[in-house]
Amino acid sequence: MYTQGLDQSDTRTPGPEEEAQLVQAFQARIDAEEKIEPRDWMPDAYRRTLVRQISQHAHSEIVGMLPEGNWITRAPSLKRKAILLAKVQDEAGHGLYLYSAAETLGTSRQQMVDQLLSGKAKYSSIFNYPTLNWADIGAIGWLVDGAAIMNQIPLCRCSYGPYSRAMVRVCKEESFHQRQGYEIMTVMARGTDAQRRMAQDALERWWWPSLMMFGPSDSDSAHTAQSMRWKIKRFTNDELRQKFVDVTVPQGHFLGLEFPDPELKLDEQTGHWNFGPIDWSEFKQVLEGNGPCNAERMRARQTAHQEGAWVRQALLAHAEKHEDIR
Ligand code: 3HC
Repeated sequence: MYTQGLDQSDTRTPGPEEEAQLVQAFQARIDAEEKIEPRDWMPDAYRRTLVRQISQHAHSEIVGMLPEGNWITRAPSLKRKAILLAKVQDEAGHGLYLYSAAETLGTSRQQMVDQLLSGKAKYSSIFNYPTLNWADIGAIGWLVDGAAIMNQIPLCRCSYGPYSRAMVRVCKEESFHQRQGYEIMTVMARGTDAQRRMAQDALERWWWPSLMMFGPSDSDSAHTAQSMRWKIKRFTNDELRQKFVDVTVPQGHFLGLEFPDPELKLDEQTGHWNFGPIDWSEFKQVLEGNGPCNAERMRARQTAHQEGAWVRQALLAHAEKHEDIR
C-alpha cells in the first residue's frame, strides 16, 4: 500500500553545512505540523527511530494474536467465537498496515520478520503473559486494548504521514476491541460468584502488566525526549499511563471490581488517581526474554513461519508464471 518509498534513489550525501540546513528545515516543517512523507528528506536518526517503533508495533500486533487465538476454540458460545475470530483477524490486519508503513522507510517486511524470528526485535511485553481462563479475554480487551488505544490515538497525529494514517483505522478497530472486552467483563462481573471471581482474578493478573505496556518511566525512557521533539510521540510514557489509570479505575469500580493496588487513591485536588510503584524488575525480565510465555511465543511464530513457507513459495511461483505470460 505504501511501498512507493522503497525505490528512492537519492544516494547523494549532503555536506555538513547543507545537512545542518536540511535538519533545520526539517524541524521547521515538524514544528509547523506538516506531515513528513516517504520521499521527503529526513534525518537518518528520524528514519531509524520510526523503523524501530513501527516494526516493534507491527510485531506486537502479530504476536498479540497468540494469547487470544488460544481461546478461539474454547469461546463459550458461537457468538463469542465469531467476535473473537474477527478481533484476532483485525490484529493481523494492523500488523500488515504497520509493516507496510515501515516499508516506506526502506526496510523490507522480510528484514523485519527475520529480526523478530531471530529474537533481535522487540514486541510488547504484555503478550508474554498467559491467558488462563475466559475472563482473561475480557481483561485483554478492556485493559490491553484500552492501553493500546490510549497510546495509539496520539499516534494518529504522528509527524510521519504513512504511520499516522495507518493509525486512524487501527484506532477505530481497537476501540471496538476495548468495548467488547469491557462487555465480557461486565457479563462476568454481574454473573455467578464463580464468574465474578474469574473477572477479579483476571484484573489482578493483567493490571500491572497493562501499566507496563506504556514503557519505562520518563526518567528511564531512552527515546521519549527526541521522539517528542520530532512529534512522533505526543505524550510521554508516564503521561499516557496516568491518563489510562484515570479512565480505567472508575470503569473497574463500576463493575464492583478491586484493583490489586493498596496505594490506589483519588487525589481530590488534581482529579488524578495516584497509584503504587511499578515493579520494573519484572518489566526488565520480560524484555530480556524471561517472562512467563516469551519462549512459547517465539516458538509459535517460528513454527508458523516455517509452516507457511509453502504458501510464500507458491505465491512467488505464481507471480513468476504471471510475469512469463506478460
Ligand atoms: N514492551 C516491550 N518493549 C518496550 C515496552 C514494552 N511495553 N515499552 C518500551 N519498550 C522498549 C522500547 O521499545 C525501547 O527499546 P529499544 O530501544 O530497543 O527500541 C526501550 O524499551 C526504551 O523505551 P522508550 O520509552 O525509550 O521507547 P519508546 O520511545 O519507543 O516508547 C512505546 C515505547 C511507548 C511502546 C513506543 O514505542 C510506542 O508508542 N510504540 C507504538 C505502540 C506500540 O508499539 N504498542 C505496542 C502494543 S500494540 C498492541 O497492544 C496491539 C493491540 O492489538 C492490543
